[in-house]
Amino acid sequence: QKKIGVLTSGGDAPGMNAAIRALVRTCVYNNIKVTGIKRGYEGLLTGDILELTARSVSDTIHRGGTILLTARCPEMLTQEGQEKAAQIYKILGLDALVVIGGDGSLTGGLMLSRLGVNIIGIPGTIDMDLPCTEYTIGFDTAVNTGMDAINKIRDTSTSHERCSVVEVMGRNAGNIALWCAMTGGAEDVLLPEMNKEENNNDTIIKQIIENRAKGKTHNLILVAEGAGGSAELAAEIKKVTGIESRATVLGHLQRGGSPTAVDRMHASMMGHMAVEIFMQGLQNKVIIFKNSDYTYMDIEEALACKRGEQMKRTKILATLGPASNDVETIK
Ligand code: F6P
Repeated sequence: QKKIGVLTSGGDAPGMNAAIRALVRTCVYNNIKVTGIKRGYEGLLTGDILELTARSVSDTIHRGGTILLTARCPEMLTQEGQEKAAQIYKILGLDALVVIGGDGSLTGGLMLSRLGVNIIGIPGTIDMDLPCTEYTIGFDTAVNTGMDAINKIRDTSTSHERCSVVEVMGRNAGNIALWCAMTGGAEDVLLPEMNKEENNNDTIIKQIIENRAKGKTHNLILVAEGAGGSAELAAEIKKVTGIESRATVLGHLQRGGSPTAVDRMHASMMGHMAVEIFMQGLQNKVIIFKNSDYTYMDIEEALACKRGEQMKRTKILATLGPASNDVETIK
């Protein structure tokens, strides 16, 4: 009987459970054993495993987080750690290791694939920063959580005629911030992908002053974690303009919560496909979503993909912002 190991690694993402569930159920249907590995690579290195059955994943499709637990594992960054992990994979008698995670976790998988481990990667990160795929599990839920929070902040900001600076997650990627800005109706957004000139506090303050002069009574600025400085920006806006300003850091709030239908769907399809390609005898692949379909890519090739020009979309935000509109339409 064939045996697949599965782990979730790095930052958790809503929908990871739906992916595990689909994978386990597809395995059970096809008479493949599944070994769940706890706390990502940490559990692989310590042999912290459990057998997963159809019942182990009951009542999990709607749950945020990951039932397998997760961790960031510094040992996997070392050659010794990787060799040990590959050795334990062999001792456990696994025929494949499914890694659900983001860039760092899949890079760990790539290292293991070079040591004889058959890796199947599933993109799972709220950051949506894997260029090989058009979707990563967790992004939709994170953005909707951010957008809901922004709607609430907007209510109080409007009532107090304040400026709200909202910081969302994304250390290296501004996708969440950009989507929250677009869907939350922000005036501007600061992203880690933008340079110092573009992420400029003076430009934002000038814009706020101009918009207030046109009759706008409240302001909303989005900041990605990686661009940073939301508290400083709020303080500076207050100092220069006199407008009461508040910074809110949404933080880990965005990593939790029941996955949206979009996340459950993508996760279920990707979990299922991981087993399908295993049964086809394919090795070392990453499941991807491309051109509205699920497919796969060689892990080496997938991780070599470069980021596109999606951040150019910030220009759209600028044209939708109040600066270019008539005062009557923006109040
Ligand atoms: O990778 C997902 C993510 O939530 C990023 O958006 C964020 O920068 C990071 O993880 C935070 O990591 P941690 O939970 O380890 O502080």
